[in-house]
Amino acid sequence: MAELPQDFWETRFQQQRTPWERSGINPGFLAWRDSGALSPCRILVPGAGRSPEPLALLQAGFDVVALDLADTAVAEQAGRLGADRAVKADVMAWQPDRLFAAVYDQTCLCALPPALWAGYERSLRRWLPTGGQLFILFMQTGREGGPPFDCPLPAMRALFAEWTWPETLAPAIPHGMGTQEQPVVLTRA
Ligand SMILES: C[S@@+](CC[C@H](N)C(=O)[O-])C[C@H]1O[C@@H](n2cnc3c(N)ncnc32)[C@H](O)[C@@H]1O
Repeated sequence: MAELPQDFWETRFQQQRTPWERSGINPGFLAWRDSGALSPCRILVPGAGRSPEPLALLQAGFDVVALDLADTAVAEQAGRLGADRAVKADVMAWQPDRLFAAVYDQTCLCALPPALWAGYERSLRRWLPTGGQLFILFMQTGREGGPPFDCPLPAMRALFAEWTWPETLAPAIPHGMGTQEQPVVLTRA
């Protein structure tokens, strides 16, 4: 599948068909924040949806920007963070005035059809300077099709070949969709 219908995500929000939403903060996020791996900086949350993590970042002292295509998601984040921190834009094209030190990707990559992944990886490199960090939860569905689209680690290592990978990976985190999320912190080389 090359693209999803333009209104795919907004329709999901309006119909309350949002099985990717957890009831609380993502355990992977909490582990990074509480260990200090994720420490206050200028950070972007692409495909933020209605997730609570951008507000948790703001409350922890981060200079956070939440970006999404869907009106419902942007309005929700604007109500929590302030309008200047909630951006309506397409991850494939958007470019900020200033770079970020970090990006937190929680079910954004897996929301994009694989044909768009190389372009999204280029966006991530445009948003971060050398040494910038990508905190990402690679969705493991083990299934064909999507969204969520499966992000198996061999494919992720190929997609993010220009990034520095950690020597060991933390355990994957179960998700209520019957999938798992593999937390990884990548550094833009
Ligand atoms: C699976 S949801 C995840 C939302 C949120 N990260 C969470 O964990 O609840 C994917 C989100 O990415 C957004 N999205 C999908 N394609 C996008 C694009 N090309 N540019 C910006 N946002 C996009 C959707 O509107 C949706 O809010």
